[in-house]
Amino acid sequence: MSLHEQVAFVTGASGGIGSAIIERFILEGAIVIAADIDANRLKQLKIKYNNRNDILTTVSLDVSNYEQVKSTIDKIIERFKKIDILINNAGFSPKKKNWLDCDIEEWHNVLNVNLSGEFYCARCVAPQMIKQRSGRIVNLSSSAWRHGGVDGGGGVPYTSSKAGVIGLTRSLAKALGIYGITVNAIAPGPTHSPMTESWLPQQEDNLSNSIPLGRVGEPKDIANAALFLASDQASFITGQCIDVNGGLTFS
Ligand SMILES: NC(=O)c1ccc[n+]([C@@H]2O[C@H](COP(=O)([O-])OP(=O)(O)OC[C@H]3O[C@@H](n4cnc5c(N)ncnc54)[C@H](O)[C@@H]3O)[C@@H](O)[C@H]2O)c1
Repeated sequence: MSLHEQVAFVTGASGGIGSAIIERFILEGAIVIAADIDANRLKQLKIKYNNRNDILTTVSLDVSNYEQVKSTIDKIIERFKKIDILINNAGFSPKKKNWLDCDIEEWHNVLNVNLSGEFYCARCVAPQMIKQRSGRIVNLSSSAWRHGGVDGGGGVPYTSSKAGVIGLTRSLAKALGIYGITVNAIAPGPTHSPMTESWLPQQEDNLSNSIPLGRVGEPKDIANAALFLASDQASFITGQCIDVNGGLTFS
């Protein structure tokens, strides 16, 4: 088991990709703290794992609220005495519309969750990881940052936030490398999940034809990349973005 007794904090944990990451991490022996803004789906997650508090703790959290993030992470560190892995996965994608119709509030909301949320979580785990002289931070970006977004996707605010995640990843990798902490990103292509269920099924055939591997992504494809980046096997990789998109884009 490659994550035996590693303490992993995963945000957006009750979503499509988040729950696949949790499943994979638990199988690999991790102790998972699953955070999400959706308290109902967190309850279902607990039931799925038979309320096993030794392997899964759930916390209701809005990652765009710095005070909440700080107090949640402080409590985790107090309880587990360490934090080995942060998976910055929480995100949201507004319905795509003409970018001139996107109001300023929506722009801020998307940036607050998708970019500031990832920064806040990294900011709050970093002091403990620095003390430990080890840690893994994995930030969810999106293939949108390379191709500018697909029809039906989150549009200008979403794509901009996910490009920002790449800058965040690289700058944190530089700042934290000296302490043995790696910071990497994953850029999934269109992937089946609640986030994409309103538009992906209608576009799946067309999209699949433009993907060299001939299909769109499944949450477990992303979970496998997260596991690799969180594991010892990736200990000399930092500041990178893994494109998990079947070849839709090439870096
Ligand atoms: N599905 C795709 O095609 C795709 C492609 C590229 C990138 N991504 C990224 O992957 C990540 C996971 O997406 P998904 O496809 O599983 O979507 P999803 O909607 O199934 O999951 C996202 C989760 O984030 C949670 N969340 C939203 N706002 C939050 C907040 N303020 N605080 C805490 N939690 C919050 C939601 O409740 C949800 O459980 C996201 O960052 C997304 O942008 C997804």
